[in-house]
Amino acid sequence: MKIVEAKFLMSNSEYSKCPKPDKPEYAFIGRSNVGKSSLINSLVQKKDLAKTSQVPGKTQLINHFSINQQWYLVDLPGYGYAKVSKTDREKFEKMIMDYLSLRSNLVCTFVLIDVRHEPQKIDLAFMETLGGKGMPFYIVFTKADKLSPTAVGKNVEAYIEKMQETWDEVPQYFVSSSVNGTGRSEILATIQHLNLQFQV
Ligand code: GTP
Ligand code: MG
Repeated sequence: MKIVEAKFLMSNSEYSKCPKPDKPEYAFIGRSNVGKSSLINSLVQKKDLAKTSQVPGKTQLINHFSINQQWYLVDLPGYGYAKVSKTDREKFEKMIMDYLSLRSNLVCTFVLIDVRHEPQKIDLAFMETLGGKGMPFYIVFTKADKLSPTAVGKNVEAYIEKMQETWDEVPQYFVSSSVNGTGRSEILATIQHLNLQFQV
């Protein structure tokens, strides 16, 4: 898919104030600092469309981007950032879960996992929650450029094996790097395919 236009639309703390739900929408979610905002920039090939940071906790709101005037990309705050207060964490969790459960045009989410790390409870639990709610998602293993291809393969395989312990069918996954564009065309092709099936 060719990206001819990618623009920031708005930031919200409530799903009900998000843009009119008349176009297919895809949300990127995962732990703080996993690379959600960077992946969005890499997909649309714009350096600073979504704000990124070396410090976790950068994205704090539901951010909508309009792509080709045909679909929406959504950058969400990360979960699992230890320095957030309990009150703020609960506020974030409610904001994210309300958005994920109630946003009618959300086609699916992409759950980002840092390919360098062992399976983490917080990610497995988050995916269990999505599965429990019948919400479709893909996994994206991020920062693949930080490991050798062999190590990436080994880690992905170990992750999938871990998921097979609890999942009958493990969701489709992608391997990505926002630094060198790995996975970009595969993710965009999947979105293009899903866009065709979207009905209001
Ligand atoms: P929050 O908004 O805080 O939840 O973080 P985020 O998930 O949006 O992460 P962000 O895109 O801001 O990236 C966090 C850090 O990881 C930044 O320093 C990025 O440059 C770096 N990063 C993200 N993706 C990649 C990648 O594919 N490869 C490498 N080497 N670094 C990456
Ligand atoms: Mg971010």
